[in-house]
Amino acid sequence: MNAAHQTDDEQMTLWNGLAGRAWVEAQALLDQTFQPFEDLLVEAVSAARPAGRILDVGCGTGSTTLAVARLLGAKGRCTGIDISDPMIATARARAERETSPASFIRANAQIHAFAPASFGMIISRFGVMFFDHPVRAFANLRRAARENAELRFIAWRTPSENPFMTTAERAASPFLPNIPARRPDAPGQFAFADHRRVYRILEDSGWTEVDIRPIDVACTLPEKELVHYFTNLGPLGTILHEADGPARMRVIETVRTAFDPYVHGEQVRFTAACWMVGARASMGAKQPPCQAAKRRGADSV
Ligand SMILES: C[S@@+](CC[C@H](N)C(=O)[O-])C[C@H]1O[C@@H](n2cnc3c(N)ncnc32)[C@H](O)[C@@H]1O
Repeated sequence: MNAAHQTDDEQMTLWNGLAGRAWVEAQALLDQTFQPFEDLLVEAVSAARPAGRILDVGCGTGSTTLAVARLLGAKGRCTGIDISDPMIATARARAERETSPASFIRANAQIHAFAPASFGMIISRFGVMFFDHPVRAFANLRRAARENAELRFIAWRTPSENPFMTTAERAASPFLPNIPARRPDAPGQFAFADHRRVYRILEDSGWTEVDIRPIDVACTLPEKELVHYFTNLGPLGTILHEADGPARMRVIETVRTAFDPYVHGEQVRFTAACWMVGARASMGAKQPPCQAAKRRGADSV
């Protein structure tokens, strides 16, 4: 995942270019690694038993959308929305292969003209941290939600709580000083690391009953995929192709060694420190964000 991209135009370029292609190519690996998060969202949908269509925001190559569609069965309706052409094309091909009733929209969820009050639940696995105007985006999703619909998404906590995620860039930075820096709160992987900011965004965009809980999730990937993983994804993946042959080899060796603590035989293991975020589209009066922050504060996290 990438962090250091400020505007929707940049996100559009990123996810329709290098990052989008890398996610398509690594689809099976990423889906395997992030399967536990898919399971958590499917469980949440199963528990909520929402009436009406479900929306999966920033659905990428569609794994979560398809899993929810499988849960709901033939009559279930699940729609994925994503800004990336290559990722939506992959999602549609997967849906066709498994004759899934899931459907996919290629559009910017921040501004897309959804039919008002059309979704009974809105979910996302790591797909909502990339908006350049998050309040506008979540207000748009709020308008698309039916009364009482649940919002449920998973986002990353801080980089320091997720050292696996930053191992590659830290190890490569002496060789590649132009590696994109992570900017706190900027659109990207760690944009929602600060849960107080997430509260404010959701309350300012009209969601209620905001509930943010830390989850620590064990993830694995095969050791034989590790080099492919760090050379193609994240900030390192976006610039490594600029390095010449010998420099590239030096970076790969150094970064691979830096990952040693996570390697256990044929498996790479790490803990993903994330937030499980819930909210509701109830008709209750919107509270001023400062009051809400005081009342709910860090204690409920
Ligand atoms: C980290 S990926 C997660 C993909 C998918 N949810 C998964 O877990 O495999 C983030 C996704 O958000 C999408 N995205 C970024 N900005 C978006 C926007 N404004 N509207 C819709 N999708 C967006 C990207 O194209 C990308 O597919």
